[in-house]
Amino acid sequence: MTNIETIGTTALDTVVDLDKKTNGSKRRDFFAKRFTAQEKHPQSFISLGASTGDKIVGFVCCHMLQGEFGSDKLIAVLDAMSVEPESQGHGVGHELMTRLMTEIRSRGGREIQTQAGWKQPEVLDFFASTGFSMAPRLIVERSTPDYSDPTRDEYEDLSHDDVLVRSLLPDDLEQVVRIDRKITGHPRRNFFTRKFEEVLYESGVRMSLIAEIDGMVVGFMMARVDFGEFGRTASEAVIDTLGVDTAFRSRHVGHALLAQLLGNLASLQVDSVRSEVEWNNLDILGFLDRCGFAPSQRLALSCNLA
Ligand SMILES: CC(C)(COP(=O)(O)OP(=O)(O)OC[C@H]1O[C@@H](n2cnc3c(N)ncnc32)[C@H](O)[C@@H]1OP(=O)(O)O)[C@@H](O)C(=O)NCCC(=O)NCCS
Repeated sequence: MTNIETIGTTALDTVVDLDKKTNGSKRRDFFAKRFTAQEKHPQSFISLGASTGDKIVGFVCCHMLQGEFGSDKLIAVLDAMSVEPESQGHGVGHELMTRLMTEIRSRGGREIQTQAGWKQPEVLDFFASTGFSMAPRLIVERSTPDYSDPTRDEYEDLSHDDVLVRSLLPDDLEQVVRIDRKITGHPRRNFFTRKFEEVLYESGVRMSLIAEIDGMVVGFMMARVDFGEFGRTASEAVIDTLGVDTAFRSRHVGHALLAQLLGNLASLQVDSVRSEVEWNNLDILGFLDRCGFAPSQRLALSCNLA
């Protein structure tokens, strides 16, 4: 019989080994950080292990998010899942998913989001059979610049004299909420208060930038470095929030923010940066297209729990 329960740091070694069997590489840092964060903020994470006897044969991990990319819904992002090869095909994955959905619903979550490579038919089959479908979002990405290459493209040039880009500070909250409100039409103070706490006071590599023109805050960009979500082995950053004051559009504010982010990431030896964008947010897609992003080889999937 399969027993499903919450797992944490004590299961770290088992989870890392099990993940390696199905994924091919060790992601110890990712799982160690995840379980530490879960201990600090149990409401924000769900990690479940499936055991037969006292052996863990499968697990699933997700984190809860609210308000990212302009949405106000509480969603769960499933970013790691694995069933050991000998136990596959016996319903363990479905049992984990059923229990995960119950847990997410009980916390008020209304959607699960995940990603899968289009060349992973067995993973896509599994998600299709558990109620997932293609999400209305596109995953776009680009590599970080190689500053030793003299032929690099113009979008990697950092010089935008009239736009000053600096790190985000606690006092920027009101200005960020103001700019975002002009864009989305509603104030997201709670979301940004939480985001600022995450950025300013919690560990983990986050990079958040503010753009100023003549001493005025005119734009912001928030990103986090990801060392293994969705089974990735190379380090990658994720831009999760971005906005330029409507009065300062087309003055290369967005470009200056991105250029600074790319520079910071390259010095941290982060290989690439991605973003997940609503398919009809043509502003962001147009901007990212001009800045060298292209569709990734991964599909955004979602499952509605409402
Ligand atoms: C997308 C956004 C950040 C662009 O900022 P910006 O400062 O106006 O962009 P830039 O001036 O730096 O533009 C850089 C390049 O992208 C292009 N670009 C910008 N917006 C574009 C659009 N809507 N369509 C096509 N291309 C666009 C520019 O033409 C420019 O190309 P160029 O260098 O050849 O001139 C801004 O429009 C914005 O904040 N949009 C709303 C974002 C949002 O929805 N946030 C809420 C959820 S977090």
